[in-house]
Amino acid sequence: MADVPPDEIRVPATDDTPPYGIPAVVASSHGEPSSDVGTEPLLELVGVSRRYGSGAAEVTALDDVSLAIMPGDFVSIMGPSGSGKSTMLGLLGCLDVPTEGTIRVGGHVVTAMDDAERSRVRGREIGFVFQQFHLIPHLDALGNVETALLYRGLSAKERRTRALESLERVGLGHRHDHRPVQLSGGEQQRVALARALVTEPKIVLGDEPTGALDSKNAELVMGLFTSLQSHERAIVLVTHDPNVGEMAERHVRMRDGRIVTDTRTS
Ligand SMILES: Nc1ncnc2c1ncn2[C@@H]1O[C@H](COP(=O)(O)OP(=O)(O)OP(=O)(O)O)[C@@H](O)[C@H]1O
Ligand SMILES: [Mg+2]
Repeated sequence: MADVPPDEIRVPATDDTPPYGIPAVVASSHGEPSSDVGTEPLLELVGVSRRYGSGAAEVTALDDVSLAIMPGDFVSIMGPSGSGKSTMLGLLGCLDVPTEGTIRVGGHVVTAMDDAERSRVRGREIGFVFQQFHLIPHLDALGNVETALLYRGLSAKERRTRALESLERVGLGHRHDHRPVQLSGGEQQRVALARALVTEPKIVLGDEPTGALDSKNAELVMGLFTSLQSHERAIVLVTHDPNVGEMAERHVRMRDGRIVTDTRTS
């Protein structure tokens, strides 16, 4: 999947209802709802394929992949260019829908949802960071972070307070009134991370989040990712950088649209 513009990752204004209380359709492999967040996957792909185009031009970007991401997981996804990493991450992040198969997020079958409902689950459960930051150029850092809180029934003051707290968490409270062009690449990525975290998501996904940064800034951003680790949260990063890959505890390798290995180091 190609990069997704910021408009695509915002929660759409579908109605005035805050994105809470979406019923769990399936919460366990036995079909019984379960509140045991420690043992149920936060994210699950079951027999998922994604094909682009048709006829002779058809490309199978993801080929019958199953993967369960558990609370506490810190996963790296590595593999050659074109092996389907971004396609898989986009599906995990509800930015795209599969050609075949089932995707569950926190027990909700997102593949059974319409676009608006899926967007709400995404806005509530998932924070996404991209290689090219995807900040909105005419908004300052604070405004960019606030976009993740739109349509949640919060007052403007509450949005501002939370966005500022999130910027402070990535060490950029003092840059809140700077627009992206006034920030370094590393700072822009930290703003993007603040935007991803302001909703307190259980799932944080990054598609080569250090790919456009020099080694010093890459280290800083990775330090922030590792500081996010908790028993309740899952972090999944696509990367080409073996140093980044090594910081993860679970290592998924892809080739030709398939997962070829899935190992843990601790
Ligand atoms: N929107 C699209 N339309 C057609 N083909 C696509 C599209 N997005 C991806 N593909 C194809 O699907 C395959 C997997 O692409 P994907 O972007 O997932 O690879 P990747 O592993 O992320 O590669 P890279 O490391 O270069 O980012 C590639 O063959 C790619 O050309
Ligand atoms: Mg990619």
